[in-house]
Amino acid sequence: MTPKKKLRLAILASGSGSNLQSIIDQCQQERLDAEISLVISNNPAAGALERAKQAGINNICINHRKFDMREEFDQAVVAALKEVGAELVVLAGFMRIISDVFLQAFPQKIINIHPALLPSFPGLQVQQKAIEYGAKFSGCTVHFVDGGVDTGPIIVQAVVPVFADDCADTLSARILEQEHKIYPQAIQWFAEGRVKIEGRQVKIENSGTLKSTLINPPTR
Ligand code: GRF
Repeated sequence: MTPKKKLRLAILASGSGSNLQSIIDQCQQERLDAEISLVISNNPAAGALERAKQAGINNICINHRKFDMREEFDQAVVAALKEVGAELVVLAGFMRIISDVFLQAFPQKIINIHPALLPSFPGLQVQQKAIEYGAKFSGCTVHFVDGGVDTGPIIVQAVVPVFADDCADTLSARILEQEHKIYPQAIQWFAEGRVKIEGRQVKIENSGTLKSTLINPPTR
């Protein structure tokens, strides 16, 4: 039997890289029909680069501080992505805003994960913001990247409860656990060719229908 063709991923990360790790793990366990062809960080001290090294994955740092303009930095990133033939660009805690140069080079091929239930709480420090607002649920969202901040079409979301005694760290940890599930799942849907964009809506072919609902605090 000829082996299945694997989707070529490039992962961009600025920080610790726990989402990157979850994707590495699932690739290694052959639970994803995907391979990571390159990890890029803009931050030389990113834990993500270390994780890529440990896993023997091609990795580079493109330090944004060495570029005068956002577009020049993005051009360098795009050149590196094209060189490895990236088919899906996965932002995993990548703390840079993407310019048109980047978006136009990979139309509908860039995805991001955000630690809130979009369109609520876009931007930064969103776990703290959800707590301060008094939200009873938060969660995470995998979405396409467009020209706005966390505004692109939504692919999948996971919901977690917010507890009365939560702080940003406890809520972040609860959300992160779900991030590590839904990001690899979304990538697998891409690998299977099941992700269809229809305007603002994203349809996952043959995904089934969720039947349950959640109430927090629980009713008797
Ligand atoms: C995650 O919470 C992700 O949702 C956000 O940045 C964080 C990255 O965490 N975009 P890690 O580097 O993957 O651990």
